[in-house]
Amino acid sequence: MELNQITFTLNGVERSLSVGELYGQLKPNETLIQTLRERFGLTGAKLSCNEGACGCCTVLVDGAAVPSCSILTADVDGKSVTTIEGLLDEKGNLDPLQQAFIDHYAFQCGYCTPGIIMAAKALLLKNPHPTREEIGEALAGNYCRCISQYHVFDAIEAVAQEGGAQA
Ligand code: FES
Ligand code: FES
Repeated sequence: MELNQITFTLNGVERSLSVGELYGQLKPNETLIQTLRERFGLTGAKLSCNEGACGCCTVLVDGAAVPSCSILTADVDGKSVTTIEGLLDEKGNLDPLQQAFIDHYAFQCGYCTPGIIMAAKALLLKNPHPTREEIGEALAGNYCRCISQYHVFDAIEAVAQEGGAQA
């Protein structure tokens, strides 16, 4: 069935987009990262490989980590999308994972960091107390050219020890 409108939840707010080829409409081949960055100004998810290989663009779709360069926006119709900007609480406080990354110096240039945090968030939502091996498996699709992974493991383990992630 061809869609002429999609509706999805973005960081807790319902959004609708008209689908079509006219100016301003959501093109059927528009990727989620294009929509997030270019329509909504949510630039936390980073575009790097643009082919699902690096994890820099990772967001949550219905709680699962998804590379937003590799999913069409039309396919999130009826779903819930969370970006790194959506991790702040209603008072603007950082998510415990974001704070832990700061506390543990778990990044250098930071380009990969939003994707890694979102992949870690998905893991902790599913498995609040992962082993180091499980953390490694969950982050297998996230690449960091600055080699900050030991600090990343420490940061995620610190949150897991404090009780995991809140939905
Ligand atoms: S930019 Fe999406 S996985 Fe690399
Ligand atoms: S901190 Fe630079 S790419 Fe990961």
